[in-house]
Amino acid sequence: MRVAVIGSTGYLGEQICHVLSTSPEFEVKLLVANRSWEKLIRQAQGFRNPSIYLVNRDANFRAASDLKESEIHVLKSRDAVREMILGDSVDGVFFALSGIDWIDLFCDLLVTKKTIWMATKEIIVAGSELWKEERDLSQHQNIIALDSEHNALHQLLQKQSKKDIAKIYLTASGGAFYEWQGDLNEITPEMALSHPNWKMGTKITIDSANLINKGLEVIEANCLFNFPYSQIDVLVQRESVIHALIERQDGFIIALLSKPDMKAVIRHALKSEGSLSWEEYKFDFCQLHQLHFDYPVPDRFRGFYLAVKVGQLGGGYPVFFCGANEACVQAFLSHRIGFNHIPILLEKTLEVTLSKPQTVSDVIEIYNQGYKAAKNLIQQRRSLKC
Ligand SMILES: NC(=O)c1ccc[n+]([C@@H]2O[C@H](COP(=O)([O-])OP(=O)(O)OC[C@H]3O[C@@H](n4cnc5c(N)ncnc54)[C@H](OP(=O)(O)O)[C@@H]3O)[C@@H](O)[C@H]2O)c1
Repeated sequence: MRVAVIGSTGYLGEQICHVLSTSPEFEVKLLVANRSWEKLIRQAQGFRNPSIYLVNRDANFRAASDLKESEIHVLKSRDAVREMILGDSVDGVFFALSGIDWIDLFCDLLVTKKTIWMATKEIIVAGSELWKEERDLSQHQNIIALDSEHNALHQLLQKQSKKDIAKIYLTASGGAFYEWQGDLNEITPEMALSHPNWKMGTKITIDSANLINKGLEVIEANCLFNFPYSQIDVLVQRESVIHALIERQDGFIIALLSKPDMKAVIRHALKSEGSLSWEEYKFDFCQLHQLHFDYPVPDRFRGFYLAVKVGQLGGGYPVFFCGANEACVQAFLSHRIGFNHIPILLEKTLEVTLSKPQTVSDVIEIYNQGYKAAKNLIQQRRSLKC
């Protein structure tokens, strides 16, 4: 199978590339990143001369100069990437970038028979209003979720009839500050970037620390499995060993357990026989001792409840929220706002009336609107007393 990876230089992208490099039935035809041109070149050299592209112009230019004598082809434009992916030389695409770029490509892929391995939850959440009728993601057999929780749900739901399910549960580790006793505003970016169980990019790690990531995943589950919000719940599961549960109407609960390791998830999603070794992934139950469960505490995880609320509101709110959250995370990472300011600012930005996006361009416009609204609020923050 011939594949493209968008976001190959990120934490998840690197793990995808690692699994692909050990799966001979896959041929990597195209790698796309934003700025990390040296890393992208190194990655491409590990495969059989795939094409590459960097969204950042300067980075793409540097890669092209460096590879003048090489057989690795550097594509010149976004259109060339779209053409290659939508054309005959690629059978499947991994979305492993952060943010909503390439949402147009995702949308166009829905009318093809190509496989879409989807990790970029921002695209699903931001476009949630578009994923209806013929674009209903739950009806697309060629979309394979790469988030560990959704992959687990996908596995759990396979042999179940939807009418027999009372609830589906996504689990959350609770993030780095679940047991934090101090003032949430004492939390620095450096502290927030150390996730207890998963190694991930900066945006998703901050979103995990305040559980906004889990709120986005609830919206993602609503889009991918078409369960109403009343049937989707979140449980804090401190050890990140249970990834999802389904509760049947007859009272039986089925859970999916595995070590927290994205490579196992990726390999499962690839349906690759590859070199997965049970010895490596096998569970040591005696080391586990206990499983801890809890519900996210509303006072502590305001951002989580806010994200779920925007999902329920629908229309332009999920995408506006995504744009605003991106601005807040950037501001927190550059020490311009405190950790606890993120949900406060998000709540304030949401005091707007928004129209329903009908097209991908509407989605991008509302995303930018959300981003700008949060940025403006961050600038006026002193007058807001937060
Ligand atoms: N990490 C995980 O374990 C995990 C698990 C489940 C889901 N996810 C989801 O997967 C996505 C990526 O997460 P991550 O942790 O891998 O983030 P990350 O480490 O920050 O990586 C982001 C990747 O996206 C690339 N990128 C950024 N903007 C792009 C653009 N406009 N076009 C193409 N590529 C672009 C980056 O390229 P540069 O290196 O050039 O900047 C990098 O390769 C997120 O949506 C996250 O929620 C991640």
